[in-house]
Amino acid sequence: MPQEANQVSAPAPARQVRIELADRSYDILIGADLLGSAHSYAGLPRASTALIVSNTVVAPLYAARLQAALASAYAKVLLVTLPDGEAHKDWPTLQLIFDALLQNSCDRKTVLFALGGGVVGDMAGFAAASYMRGVPFVQIPTTLLAQVDSSVGGKTAINHPLGKNMVGAFYQPQRVICDLDLLKTLPARELSAGLAEVIKYGPIADMDFFSWIESHIDALRAADSLALAHAVKRSCEIKALVVGQDEREAGLRAILNFGHTFGHAIESGMGYGAWLHGEGVACGMVMAAELSQRLGLVDVAFVARLRRLIALAGLPTVGPVLSQSDNAGRYLELMRVDKKAEAGEIKFVVIDRPGSARVQSAPDALVRQVIDACCVPL
Ligand code: NAD
Ligand code: GLY
Repeated sequence: MPQEANQVSAPAPARQVRIELADRSYDILIGADLLGSAHSYAGLPRASTALIVSNTVVAPLYAARLQAALASAYAKVLLVTLPDGEAHKDWPTLQLIFDALLQNSCDRKTVLFALGGGVVGDMAGFAAASYMRGVPFVQIPTTLLAQVDSSVGGKTAINHPLGKNMVGAFYQPQRVICDLDLLKTLPARELSAGLAEVIKYGPIADMDFFSWIESHIDALRAADSLALAHAVKRSCEIKALVVGQDEREAGLRAILNFGHTFGHAIESGMGYGAWLHGEGVACGMVMAAELSQRLGLVDVAFVARLRRLIALAGLPTVGPVLSQSDNAGRYLELMRVDKKAEAGEIKFVVIDRPGSARVQSAPDALVRQVIDACCVPL
């Protein structure tokens, strides 16, 4: 894309990670003070209109700064403010984005800017993938979870009452802009939820990174900017490597769903929003690690180490009871509505040795044992 001649110069971002996907390649910028810097937007597609998609929590904090930064490049900078929360990751809320696009006669060059956490990013991305069969979009993730995972890699979706992220598209952004300053307003519970996805990268890909997280967990929970910068960069590097090899999850990319099969069951079984996505993933990782151990792949000490770090991150390690009559049966029922399931057979991401993961099925009886061992009544 051509660079604008009149870009205001600003310091280069501190860190940059590239997602290599042929003609869909793009950069992840990671640093402080990126939101208001014109440099962050240099080289993006130009158009008469930019539409910022945000929500009722994030827009009052950051939309004005983004609007000001975009004003020199786009004649019209519009804002659509969605209701906040996972419970609104649905058709009626998605429709609000299309309403704003059509009511403002937005053409197919319009650039969408997702300003928010994973919920906003997933919905704005899905809207961008489908409006006029595809318009460009940029991810500006404002949660740790979104900076280390959801804004990267092009998965977009909304939830269905019967299953999480069941309706969506693969659609890559033009750029991801991770401004670490935005994390300063993030509630502690949300920061912890993001740490779940950071921790995930250790068991599946990089145990040195896992050890680093162990030794920096206090700094991370205190939102220390240097620690967060490293965590975001290393997480994005690992995700970039995986997505670069398997954009559409033909195989390898599924390892990024470590903990998600159990976690999604918790999220939908409890009602979207009751457990945060990262909390479901955290507890789901404990369950998936238990399953790995019962399959003879890893030892008890590894499971204990993972459980300890998850607890230190302020995340749940014990699952909720989803049914008083047949709890394991309810988990199994929910887990069959998973994108990895094939002909009703549930596929789990298991750790085959610390730092390496694979996808496989497991006997229901063994999965029931894991659920019984990992859940306690409310
Ligand atoms: P979220 O988007 O709901 O954000 C969490 C909360 O923090 C919300 O209330 C939000 O308004 C608020 N918030 C956001 N930024 C803030 C800030 N800077 N200051 C103060 N408050 C702020 O949740 P999330 O954890 O970011 O994302 C979870 C979603 O991401 C789930 O729907 C999950 O399915 C999805 N996800 C997608 C992918 C993917 O690859 N596309 C990967 C992981 C997760
Ligand atoms: N968060 C899982 C993935 O992007 O594949």
